[in-house]
Amino acid sequence: MTTNHGANLFDLASKLGIKKSEILDFSSNINPFGASKKAKRSVIDNVDMVSIYPDPEYKELKGVISDYCNCKPYNILLGSGATELIAAFINTIDPKKALLVSPAYSEYEKELNKIGCNIVKYFAKKESEFKINVNDLKKEIKTRNYDLVIICNPNNPTGFAFNKDEIKELLSGTKTFFMIDETYIEFTDTKKYSSTHLIDEHENLFVIRGTSKFFSTPGIRLGYGLISNKMVQDNILKKLDLWNINIFATLMGEIMFKDHEYIDSTIIHMSEERKYLDNELRKIKGIKVYESHGNFILCEIKEDDMTSEKLYNILLKEGIVIRNCSSFEGLSDKFFRVCILKHEENELLIHEINKIIK
Ligand SMILES: Cc1ncc(COP(=O)(O)O)c(C=O)c1O
Repeated sequence: MTTNHGANLFDLASKLGIKKSEILDFSSNINPFGASKKAKRSVIDNVDMVSIYPDPEYKELKGVISDYCNCKPYNILLGSGATELIAAFINTIDPKKALLVSPAYSEYEKELNKIGCNIVKYFAKKESEFKINVNDLKKEIKTRNYDLVIICNPNNPTGFAFNKDEIKELLSGTKTFFMIDETYIEFTDTKKYSSTHLIDEHENLFVIRGTSKFFSTPGIRLGYGLISNKMVQDNILKKLDLWNINIFATLMGEIMFKDHEYIDSTIIHMSEERKYLDNELRKIKGIKVYESHGNFILCEIKEDDMTSEKLYNILLKEGIVIRNCSSFEGLSDKFFRVCILKHEENELLIHEINKIIK
């Protein structure tokens, strides 16, 4: 049952003979509080809009995103999730040689393989707690002639994040394209870690963001990408379908990016619960915990006779799904990842893990 992604709840529910809502999904990294109530209300109140086409230029939505992430509306591209933009950008740049900061989310490699790109992996090491030295990485980028560097920031699955000054340092003096996936950025201090403000001065920078995780809306498939390079922008646009964002995703986006109450309470809850989960996991002697800037925590099992697959299967019997990280190159069958859910759910997870690992 191991895959390259978090749980397929449809599949698991039918295999376990329970409802999707009965599964405690610690594998998909989605904000457990659900989407903004105001945004959901807007869909309910405007359900008849199903019968009209969305604005093909998405002017209002881009205006709201521009305020949300402090960038120019004309530098925004919209995609069906971050996923569509990852594929469209890689296809547009068509790199012959790419550096993939690893371990990393699997879709980058999948898309690079589709175009026959030579992929070089720069691995964060367990010995360095998966932290990356920016000067070492910069040296690697300078020495070899890469067409594209891919960074997931904060990184899924390690939780490591470069701050904005480190990203600026990586970008200085190079024309190599950078794709920075900020899908998890709102779970850390965006003022310190986000690169969106670097878009105007660096034409080789493409920052990708999604709404699936922080805004708890994977079902609407809404992502956005920021780039100031007009030629690349035009070429990406040619690859995207007209009306690729449906009317309900548009409606929700127009509300949720402005729902400060929702945004602020999510940030407060998630950072409190990350502290709780981190602390409790660290109390379990048989587990090593890696520091995370995301809404998930990477853990390593230290007991000889336990693997992440075994742990996954034992917890699954209780309706609890964790991410077995053995499929990530650079990790092993000892690694698993859990995301932050509501307090009682986090307590239950700790209780159940405690029964298995001492
Ligand atoms: C790092 C990263 N980027 C992108 C995605 C996909 O996001 P979206 O739902 O916006 O396509 C995921 C999903 O797990 C992810 O972990």
